[in-house]
Parts: sequence; structure tokens; C-alpha cells
Amino acid sequence: MTTTVLRTDFEKSVADYWNTNRQDPVNLRLGEVDDLYHHHYGVGPYDPSVLDAPAGAREQRIIAELHRLESAQADLLLDHLGPIGPDDMILDGGSGRGGTSIMAHQRFGCEVDGVSISEYQVGFANEQAARRGIADRVRFHFRNMLDTHLPAGSRQAVWTNETTMYVDLGDLYAEFARLLRFGGRYVCITGCANDVTGLRSKAVSRINEHYTCDIHPRSHYFKALAANGLAPIAVTDLTAATIPYWELRARSSVATGIEEPFLTAYREGSFHYLLIAADRI
Ligand SMILES: C[S@@+](CC[C@H](N)C(=O)[O-])C[C@H]1O[C@@H](n2cnc3c(N)ncnc32)[C@H](O)[C@@H]1O
Repeated sequence: MTTTVLRTDFEKSVADYWNTNRQDPVNLRLGEVDDLYHHHYGVGPYDPSVLDAPAGAREQRIIAELHRLESAQADLLLDHLGPIGPDDMILDGGSGRGGTSIMAHQRFGCEVDGVSISEYQVGFANEQAARRGIADRVRFHFRNMLDTHLPAGSRQAVWTNETTMYVDLGDLYAEFARLLRFGGRYVCITGCANDVTGLRSKAVSRINEHYTCDIHPRSHYFKALAANGLAPIAVTDLTAATIPYWELRARSSVATGIEEPFLTAYREGSFHYLLIAADRI
């Protein structure tokens, strides 16, 4: 199975990153707040009082606040999936430790499949679903989102939450177009490079280097969507909404060192945090 899921050296190095990078407190300590484990960033203003909390409580208040902003980001993504009923099936492309998938099931009652090329993450996420007693409705698979082996036309909605920078967009959207029913919805939240400021800035290159990823220019998303029968219905620039999250994270005990490149890239305008919703036509 490993040889067919991980087809290239690049995919192997991405899988290796997520398989070995297990102990990052920015993921674990935040997830422990309510057992929803995210590997994405946050949106919305933070409560500044967390920074003035008494020394014994301050760190935990900041962690809970960062987690609240990350869950708010996932909620925003789910707000754009359109009407989903309990009989629908949806797909989380690059599902990480499963937080967004579990939230989707809690909200819609539907069946969710998540795919990740990290075997470790798939095991972790399946354990979370089992602990919640929803393993029959929320399943995680060690599979490549470019080749999911799920039945054609089986999905009412598909999303990617900060995973598109690891793959070729043409290949990805061809697979999603195959999986989505006519009129089904695709939602993406991603960081993308700003074509208007030119190709990759230094700060964007540092982010690529840190995560072993390849951030796409904004224009590539719309070309690849259009080429695969996915017609955008909403595009939201979340850049201003995510900056407070990074500012708070930079002042927290769980900062990883990547906060300054993100803040620089967003503030200089070379990088955008975008939500795109598109319909399968
Ligand atoms: C930044 S994490 C995001 C995780 C999750 N979407 C979330 O919001 O918590 C990136 C994820 O993309 C997954 N990934 C990268 N390339 C992939 C591929 N070709 N197929 C499936 N998953 C992939 C990684 O394994 C990891 O789970």
C-alpha cells in the first residue's frame, strides 16, 4: 500500500514530516483543550485580556484562545459547504488529526471520509473518532488525495483545509471533479502567493522551506478550478482576519519560529490567506 499511496519522493518527504513531527505543542496543547486536533491557523480577533491574565493562568488562557481561533477557522470553512444532510457523504482532503472532519460530522450528522498521506495522523484521527463513538460515520484513510479510490460522484462536498500547497492543483481538482456530484461544493482555505507582487517573496520561500511545501500563486487556483468544471461562488480574503492569530501566537509559549515569516508575508502583501468556494458544474 505504501508504494501506491506515496508515489513521489516529494510525497514521501511530506509524509515523513507529518509522521515524525508529532510532538509540536502548538498542535497537541491546543487540541487537548477539547480534543479537536487541528493543523491549521486561526481567524478573528483575539481577546486581549488573555495577555494580562495572572501568571499561573496566562499560558493556558492564551492556548485556549489560539484554539478558539483555529476552531473558528474550521467553522467558517464548514459555513461554506452548503446544505449537507445526514445522508450525504463528504470528503476532507488532507485530514491531519481529524479536527475539521469531526466538527463537520457534529454539525451535519453526515458521513465523512478523511484522507492523509501520514499513516500516523490517520491512526490518531481514527482513535479520536472511536473515542467519540462515531467511527462508523467518520473514517480516516491512509490515501493520497490525488487518487482517493472513492467512488465517482459519491460526494456532496469536498474540502481542503491548508493542504493544497502539497500537490499539483490540476491533478487535485481533476480528482475532486470526479468525486463530486453535479452541483456539489468544493471549499478551500489556503495561503497563496500574490501574483501582483511578483513570484515568491523571501518570506513565502521561508514558509515553503519550513513545511516542505510549495505555495501556489493565487492565479493557479482559478485556472485549475476552471479547467476542471469547478465554478467559484465565493472568494474571501481572510488575510486581515488571520493576522491577529499570528500576533498572539508569536507572543505565546507555543510559538515555533515561523510566526515572523507569516506576519511579514501577510503585512507586505506577498501572501494571502484565501477561502474559495466552488460548485461542480
Ligand atoms: C497543514 S496539514 C492540514 C491538516 C488538516 N486539513 C487540518 O486542517 O487540520 C496538511 C495535511 O495535508 C496532508 N497531505 C499532504 N499531501 C497530501 C496528499 N497528497 N494526499 C493526502 N494528504 C496529503 C498531510 O498529511 C497533512 O495531514
